[in-house]
Amino acid sequence: MTSAKFITLEGIDGAGKTTQLESLVKWLREKQVTTVVTREPGGTPLGEQLRAMLLDNAVTMHAETEALLMFAARREHLDKVIIPALAQGSWVVSDRFTDASFAYQGGGRGLQWEKLEALESWTQGLLQPDLTIYFDLPAELGQRRVSAVKARDRFEQERLDFHQRVREAYLLRARQFPQRIHVIDARQPVDAVKAAVEQLLASLFEAGSA
Ligand code: TYD
Repeated sequence: MTSAKFITLEGIDGAGKTTQLESLVKWLREKQVTTVVTREPGGTPLGEQLRAMLLDNAVTMHAETEALLMFAARREHLDKVIIPALAQGSWVVSDRFTDASFAYQGGGRGLQWEKLEALESWTQGLLQPDLTIYFDLPAELGQRRVSAVKARDRFEQERLDFHQRVREAYLLRARQFPQRIHVIDARQPVDAVKAAVEQLLASLFEAGSA
């Protein structure tokens, strides 16, 4: 029996997070770990509606509105999905969480860190992920990967300097919370990234069963 863990995955757009999420979840399920997989913004019916608005290219909004909606979706996500799942002993893997708000709304849009910290403590109290994996990649490379795949959403269509600021803010968060946030070089081949992820999972898994 392992105690339930909360894992979040982060990265700039095009970092390969989604591919890694799939193999990470497979790894956990092979270890018989009950795992709830979810995402932000989203993860609840209300959150998914907010996500549709937040990602819609045709929608414009103030940067603070954007931040408040991200945290509104998160409040709901915590209440309806994350906290109940952890309480039942399931592990939770979320494709993005609060570090994304510091990176995109803080770094990308330029909102003050203090305002985001206030929203963070209001929304989640002291709750933090047990492990956050940040897939790091130069913004140029991320942008090239995104354009190869699909139509760009409201964030993906932002200019290169926006994504550079997002990356810098992620790296700043990683320096602030080195115990929780692990940086993996996402320029490596997919299998090397996967191996690095599995190493982190194995340590967490062992820590949980000790
Ligand atoms: P993303 O997770 O990249 O999904 P997909 O792979 O389907 O494109 O899309 C979510 C977008 O939302 C991403 O560009 C980052 C942004 N975002 C924020 O700006 N702030 C946040 O707090 C969160 C959770 C996401």
